Amino acid sequence: MKIAVIGTGYVGLVTGVCLADIGHEVTCIDVDIAKVRLLREGKSPIFEPGLQEMIKKNITEDRLRFTNQVGEGIDQARVIYIAVGTPSNAEGTADLKSIEEAAISIARFISQDAVIATKSTVPIGTNDRIRAIIEENKRDASVTIDIVSNPEFLREGSAVNDTFNGDRIIIGSDSEKAADIVEEINKPLQVPVYRTSIRSAEMIKYASNAFLATKISFINEIANLCEKLDADITEVAQGMGMDKRIGPHFLNAGIGYGGSCFPKDTNALMQIAGDADHDFKLLKSVIEVNNKQRAILLEKAKQRFGSFKELTVAVLGLAFKPNTDDIREAASLGLIDVLQQAGSNVKAYDPAAMDKTKRFISPPIYYASSTEEAIQDADCVFILTEWPEFINFDLKLFTLKMKTPILFDGRNCYNLDEVKLHGIEYHSIGRPSVVLEGCHYI
Ligand SMILES: NC(=O)c1ccc[n+]([C@@H]2O[C@H](COP(=O)([O-])OP(=O)(O)OC[C@H]3O[C@@H](n4cnc5c(N)ncnc54)[C@H](O)[C@@H]3O)[C@@H](O)[C@H]2O)c1
Repeated sequence: MKIAVIGTGYVGLVTGVCLADIGHEVTCIDVDIAKVRLLREGKSPIFEPGLQEMIKKNITEDRLRFTNQVGEGIDQARVIYIAVGTPSNAEGTADLKSIEEAAISIARFISQDAVIATKSTVPIGTNDRIRAIIEENKRDASVTIDIVSNPEFLREGSAVNDTFNGDRIIIGSDSEKAADIVEEINKPLQVPVYRTSIRSAEMIKYASNAFLATKISFINEIANLCEKLDADITEVAQGMGMDKRIGPHFLNAGIGYGGSCFPKDTNALMQIAGDADHDFKLLKSVIEVNNKQRAILLEKAKQRFGSFKELTVAVLGLAFKPNTDDIREAASLGLIDVLQQAGSNVKAYDPAAMDKTKRFISPPIYYASSTEEAIQDADCVFILTEWPEFINFDLKLFTLKMKTPILFDGRNCYNLDEVKLHGIEYHSIGRPSVVLEGCHYI
């Protein structure tokens, strides 16, 4: 089927490439000319496992094209996906500027009947607004459009795999025919489909992210309590997760959620609730807990050192999670800023997100080219992303290379007995600190 995808970011690009890979003829459209140029050369502008190879393959096999011309891109498309960004406004609401621009450009160029399927995360009622914009502005009055809300659930870092192995595809529409078409497109993926109304589909996306954020804030509060009561959150989470009603996922305590989705979507849902005169107390607490949690590692370090002035601090992990180069709302940004303001010498390293970080964090900062280089002569290390490279790092190198082997681990990467064995002072989340007797590093 001929498909157009407007917006080639983490969602649009993965969607377009995967749909091409299952045999559709896909044109991806983006306003970012540099991005389109790169993609035409077969190069991925984002780090996402498996994506680069698939882009090349599907361009070569002539199923995948890129353009910045909407007219050219949507020409003859049976389905036009909208996958543009919906970032937070200053007051926390979803900024729908790109959505509205995409709808206007569809209206301007659409020349045959099509299904408009929104993958972007949008407040309840937005798809009705998209329909109204297109209907009001379309040049050709004879063209009919159908609307489908088709929210996306892929996770950055495993987006391609998630597309082929998703838990469900939500198709929200008031048109049976349009829902059939979107279901048909996805058939080769063999992912379960659940059909709903448009508004329910929009709500499913926000409710899912808010629930996952709630799980994270909940386990983090339990972790903080564990620290006070000498329990170990790793054991507690494992024991909780064995209960099928709870499940083992999303019970990793840490320094809170970040990224391009949870912070913005929880804030947006708070606003959506407020607009509907609903006091969403639980979600408000989830956000508050998360904001507090993000500062917890710095507080531990402050207690340990008193001042950060002139300390050499290695920051391992800049991306908001492993296997991505996305640093939106990453814990690293705020933490490095505090360290810089306090007069520390910051050395940072991430396996994939260095280039993106360089655009956001200005000097003084040293960008190391490996974990070993980052920790060399450091007074302490902060681990902010659980990259496999850090989890599998040879612990003895911390003792050998650092000035003083003191670790603040926001992702609980290491086993407490092992760090003890290597003579490392270790502060993690929800577990007793390892402070070696008779060993006063500073
Ligand atoms: N990133 C995720 O993990 C994820 C997961 C599920 C849902 N979502 C949702 O999907 C949407 C997209 O997220 P993303 O992370 O891919 O965003 P992104 O910022 O990575 O990409 C958005 C792209 O849209 C392009 N764009 C903006 N306006 C445009 C226009 N008028 N015409 C054509 N292109 C335009 C931008 O240049 C950019 O390349 C958001 O609503 C997000 O909440 C994201």
